[in-house]
This record gives sequence, C-alpha cells and structure tokens, in this order.
Amino acid sequence: MIYSNKVLEHFKNPKNVGEIKDADGIGEVGNPICGDTMTIYIKVKDKRIKDIKFQTFGCAAAIASSSMLTELAKGKTIADAKKITRDAVADELGGLPSIKMHCSNLATDALKKAIEDYERKHK
Ligand code: FES
Repeated sequence: MIYSNKVLEHFKNPKNVGEIKDADGIGEVGNPICGDTMTIYIKVKDKRIKDIKFQTFGCAAAIASSSMLTELAKGKTIADAKKITRDAVADELGGLPSIKMHCSNLATDALKKAIEDYERKHK
C-alpha cells in the first residue's frame, strides 16, 4: 500500500494528540470491521473550536486522518467544522488508498459526534 508523504508525516508526527479533561464535547466512534476506535475532544468558545484533541487506536491512515482533521477544525466555527468532509481530509493528506477511505470517515464521524455532544449539553 502506498501512502503519500503527508500521510506518513502525520502518522509519524501526529498533531493534537491527547485528551481534553474539561472538554465541551466528546465524540467516540469505532469501526466494527477493523476494530479501530477514535475519540475527539473539543473545547468551544464563542461558537468556535478553540481546542481539539484526539486519541486513536488504529491504522496509519486513521491516525493521519485524525491529525489532519484536528488541524482543519481548529479555530473554525462550529458551523464550518460541520462542513468538513472525509474527502477534504483525504485531499489535504494528498489522497488515501481507496481501501483506506473509511479511516478518514472515522475522523469526520468522531468530530460530528463531538459537536452533537456539545450542542446537546449547551442547548
Ligand atoms: Fe480501521 Fe483504518 S483500518 S480505521
């Protein structure tokens, strides 16, 4: 399998790894087929994602996708963060092999869930 240099860079040196203890929203997803799991934590201020971190137990593509997703979402408004697609994550990574596209899905799904959690708690 051929990964782009960007994927390898984010896999070896992932950005925003960790947990936010007092997160405003948490999203956890898992892929039942490969068994990989991902959790995204967000901190929101003035409807903007002020901080975002992730914990991923998964393949190289899942880790690189989580890292890129957090980079894309950081500083965005909640409304704009909702518009980040798996294709946008994959494009920023210089593409993903087609059998690895579901890994970038995991990242966008986890962010979506974290935002839903935030909106539920801050109605
Ligand atoms: Fe499971 Fe990549 S193989 S997330």
